[in-house]
Amino acid sequence: MTGDPFQRPLPKLEWRFREFLDELDRCEGYVPGHSVAVCRLALRLARALEVPEDELPALALGALMHDVGKVFVDSSLLGKEAALTPAELGIIRLHPELGEALLAESIAHPTVLGVVRWHHERWDGGGYPDGLRGSAIPLPARIVAAADAFTAMSEGRAYRRAREAGEAVGEMSRLAGRQFDQACVEALLDGVDRPKPGRKRALRTLRQGVQAL
Ligand SMILES: [Fe+2]
Ligand SMILES: [Fe+2]
Repeated sequence: MTGDPFQRPLPKLEWRFREFLDELDRCEGYVPGHSVAVCRLALRLARALEVPEDELPALALGALMHDVGKVFVDSSLLGKEAALTPAELGIIRLHPELGEALLAESIAHPTVLGVVRWHHERWDGGGYPDGLRGSAIPLPARIVAAADAFTAMSEGRAYRRAREAGEAVGEMSRLAGRQFDQACVEALLDGVDRPKPGRKRALRTLRQGVQAL
């Protein structure tokens, strides 16, 4: 049994998550594999920040599902190359709450739901959906926010090219303490050359998260 561990038969509950992720990956304008990349990077940051091991599974599951609300957003908006109108931006910005509502049908874990809801909050309070500021944003969501942004910068999007690694590092440093928690950015930049946890290890942590629900 080699290859992508996420393709192997998974317990029933995980299949449901898998279906959501597959649907998300198929959305035009969404980068396939983004969810898994964010999950792996978030786990590396969490370990560097010494988040207790028993809190990692829920954090990993939240990171994996962070953008799941985008399955409700019209693909033409996700992949739009031209600037979004304020109304279109407003629709895209509903995805954290939509994702939380979707998962809340089967999950009550506050860390999982919190990561999904608050991954676009900003350290300076200018994020959404709740405008939380600083340490009022739970650490797992701050970690995923930094991991998500750095991953997105290196992937590129329909409306902008992928940034070089050095450029993404510079951008994250510039935004530390404004958009992102300084400690999360430091952990990220400290380990930029270090490998993210392998998919197998990430999957093991996720399994624990699912089993603990
Ligand atoms: Fe998002
Ligand atoms: Fe994302």
